Amino acid sequence: MEFKTQLLKADENSLDLAAKYFSAGEVVAVPTETVYGLAGNAYNGETIKKIFEAKGRPQDNPLIVHISDMEMLKEVASVIPGTAYKLADAFWPGPLTMIMKKSEKVSPVTTAGLDSVGIRMPSDPFAHALIVKTGIPFAAPSANVSGRPSPTDAKTVFEDMNGKIPLVVDGGECFAGVESTVVSLLNETPIILRPGYVTKEDMEEVLGTEVKIAAAVTENIKAGEKVLSPGMKYKHYAPNADVIILDGDINKFAGYVNNHKESGVYAMVFDGEESLLNVPCVTYGKFGDGKSQAHELFSSLRKLDELNARTVYARCPGKSGVSLAVYNRLIRSAGFNIIKL
Ligand code: TXA
Ligand code: MG
Repeated sequence: MEFKTQLLKADENSLDLAAKYFSAGEVVAVPTETVYGLAGNAYNGETIKKIFEAKGRPQDNPLIVHISDMEMLKEVASVIPGTAYKLADAFWPGPLTMIMKKSEKVSPVTTAGLDSVGIRMPSDPFAHALIVKTGIPFAAPSANVSGRPSPTDAKTVFEDMNGKIPLVVDGGECFAGVESTVVSLLNETPIILRPGYVTKEDMEEVLGTEVKIAAAVTENIKAGEKVLSPGMKYKHYAPNADVIILDGDINKFAGYVNNHKESGVYAMVFDGEESLLNVPCVTYGKFGDGKSQAHELFSSLRKLDELNARTVYARCPGKSGVSLAVYNRLIRSAGFNIIKL
């Protein structure tokens, strides 16, 4: 179906309209504190199919269900472990998704046939208000065409979704800039399937016990290998250019890139490092500061497309704290192409 897509500021009017489309079984793009989401009724399989279609998303990749309060948690999960209450207390509303056993109410289309469901309570005021107004949790993946960098502003959503959905709501730039942390609570020890703004250290402090990180967070999954989180096996977050990560200090980085000066070559570096490079640069936050890198990462990858970059040499982020989320996204956008300097 072809839509004339409206782009409206987040306010009472766009909230009414979003709720109307939502109730009519349509899909709308909404702001969240992580990235923009493509939202539809999590209980309605026909609506959820429209989300997969608009994104061109593989059918076996489950969606996250967004709730407004702890009462709604009982509607979407059939088993709620004690750790879920502790983590919810500390991090909800906010950028943390917890995997639990699903309830009957959540459509199997939403969970791609799995008997578990990813649940989060967004803090963004518009996303929250939409759930309260409709009384129904929404399922939402990031509002990009599958494989592209996730959108952190409404203009980018509009570029990807124009004609495919009736409404994009503009809530400004997203706070975090990377998607939520996904943690599985299906086993005794919580395991991080996707790192995000809420870190392993944050959760361990609250729980007082170990939180594991799935191997696939930092490693490439071989074709056909079974993964805990289906979303981790696809090439992802990729701009049109070939991204190559150079793992080494800024002097080695500059030495390497300055020897590869060709047309279409760009460097993706940290703030202030541009002066050391003799190729055009795009920056993505401050050295050693995962939060600022997370905030810039996806918009910088999109900017490289606007500049028609062909080859991008990127600085390697750290692997702890919020930087781990940045590293996890960047190695996927690079198709795991990392050169150790
Ligand atoms: O911040 C976010 O989480 C954003 C905003 C819109 O809320 N949403 C988002 O959704 O990033 P998406 O669909 O792009 O990523 C969902 C991830 C995928 O990697 C998926 O495989 C995983 O969560 N996931 C969802 N349900 C799962 C489940 N039951 N078991 C394992 N992994 C699951
Ligand atoms: Mg996504």
